[in-house]
Parts: sequence; C-alpha cells; structure tokens
Amino acid sequence: MNLKNKLVLITGASSGIGDACAELFAQAGASLVLVARRRKRLEVLQQRLKERHNTESLVLASDVSRVGAVEPAFQALPPKWQAVDILINNAGLVKGMEPEWAISAADVDTMIDTNIKGLLTMTRLCIPGMLERGHGHVINLGSVAGREAYPGGSVYSATKFAVRALSRGLKMDLLGTPIRVTSIDPGMVETEFSVVRFGGDQTKAKEVYAGMTPLAADDIADAALYAATRPPHVNISELFIMPTDQAAARMVHRKGSATGGRK
Ligand SMILES: NC(=O)c1ccc[n+]([C@@H]2O[C@H](COP(=O)([O-])OP(=O)(O)OC[C@H]3O[C@@H](n4cnc5c(N)ncnc54)[C@H](OP(=O)(O)O)[C@@H]3O)[C@@H](O)[C@H]2O)c1
Repeated sequence: MNLKNKLVLITGASSGIGDACAELFAQAGASLVLVARRRKRLEVLQQRLKERHNTESLVLASDVSRVGAVEPAFQALPPKWQAVDILINNAGLVKGMEPEWAISAADVDTMIDTNIKGLLTMTRLCIPGMLERGHGHVINLGSVAGREAYPGGSVYSATKFAVRALSRGLKMDLLGTPIRVTSIDPGMVETEFSVVRFGGDQTKAKEVYAGMTPLAADDIADAALYAATRPPHVNISELFIMPTDQAAARMVHRKGSATGGRK
C-alpha cells in the first residue's frame, strides 16, 4: 500500500518510537497529526519533517489520558485533519519499579489513564470516520510486558495485557470491515522510556541497557511501516520484536556478566 496522501495520527510523537514513526511515515509520503503533551518538541519535529520530506503535518498538543482535553481538541480540528487513515496508538509510559503493593495511587492512575484509557479514547475518535470512508488501520503499541509480568512492573504489565486484549477485541469487532488492526509488542527499546520510569534519573536509565544491545526506536517504526504497507487484504495482527540480547522480560544477556546475564 502506498502512503502518499494518507493521513497518519501518531500519539507520543514527541519522543522515541513515536518520533521515529513520524520520520519513516513522513519519508513514505504520508501527512501527519502529531500528538503529545510537549508542544515545543512537536513543533521542532514538524519543522524537521517539513525540511526533510516537505511533510504536511499538524501539531495536536494534548494529553491523551484526559478525555475532556483530547476529545474536544480532536473534534475542533478541520475535517480534513480528522480523516485519519492510520492511527498509531503509541503514547504510553511506566512509572517506577516498586512492588505492586507499594505503587502510588497517582502512578497507578497515570499508567492506566494513559496506556489503556488514552489508547481507547483515540480509537473511539478515529474508528467511526474509518468505517464511513471504508478504509483504515489501527496500530497499537503493546509490549513484551503485555505477554508476561515481571517484578517491579506489574501495573505497567497489566496495562499492556489490556492493550493486547483491546487489539484482539478490536480486530474481532471490525471483522467484516476493511479496517485493519496491528499490535506491536517490543522488548527493550532505548528511548526516553527508562528516563521517565526513573523520574529523570539518566544514570539509572542507562544502567537498564548496560552490556546489551537494545532495539532502537527505528526498528519498531520500521515494523509499523511494514504492517501499514501490506496489501489491503493482509492484516499483520501481531509483531513480537525482541533484541537479540533479550529472551524474556527479565532475561537479558549482558557482556561481561559472570552469569551471562541470565537473571
Ligand atoms: N522503550 C521500551 O523499551 C518499550 C518497550 C515496549 C513497549 N514500549 C511502548 O512504546 C510506546 C512508546 O514508548 P517509547 O519507548 O517511545 O517512550 P518515550 O520515548 O518515553 O515516548 C513516550 C511518548 O508518549 C508520550 N506520552 C506520554 N504520556 C502521554 C499523554 N498522557 N498524552 C500524550 N502523550 C503522552 C510522550 O510525550 P509527552 O511527554 O510529550 O506527552 C512521548 O512522546 C509506549 O506505549 C511504551 O509503553 C516501549
């Protein structure tokens, strides 16, 4: 499928995987709606894409976890910018590494409201138009954490298990329509993800990837582009993508480790 004249809405476009998706989809000729909370970052990205690929894009600086903010902001867009062909539900985050009983109520809310409810809000906003126009594609960012829990990650895992259920359920709800649904489940990707997890502590974030080669945001954007460019009768339902150095959520091979990092 050709992405020229297609409109792609990317949540979490201000960093990491979302930024990389913006770059690759712009390079492929798509127009973009760029969504995240940090407006300045989105404006810099918009300018970069204009200069590199002459991309037409629109910045929607909003918080997907606040339905009362993002819904009216989306509905106020000119109709042309609401006619989303591909929705990349990528905005998401993890907070902390506490055991389940010690995670603050505020962090629980942030993860559930962003990763589950925010994704659902964007799906609700985009699918009716896709159905009317008779084409569309939803690409949800899950995680290896949506396939297995791990210590210190139980609430994040629960949100990503939910994303998996929402992707599977959406595909079933849309059966008989031309709308496609893809779930991409990455292992470790070096982005701002761990910096956010550790409240801005860059040193702690770096340690997560010590002695191993993580995935890059581009690797995941490439997978999203692959799914989006298959012929219309092909639905890539799930992509589970791990670094070669990772076998499970907490099984990582680290160079120089006495145990080979099998912990
Ligand atoms: N990195 C990994 O190892 C990994 C592995 C598996 C899955 N994932 C998933 O991949 C997705 C992207 O993560 P990433 O690795 O690219 O992390 P990242 O670099 O931290 O990017 C996260 C993006 O989400 C946006 N975001 C967060 N909360 C938001 C909100 N309430 N409203 C709007 N945008 C919001 C952030 O923008 P603002 O702060 O500007 O709002 C940012 O653009 C997430 O769903 C994550 O769970 C990541």
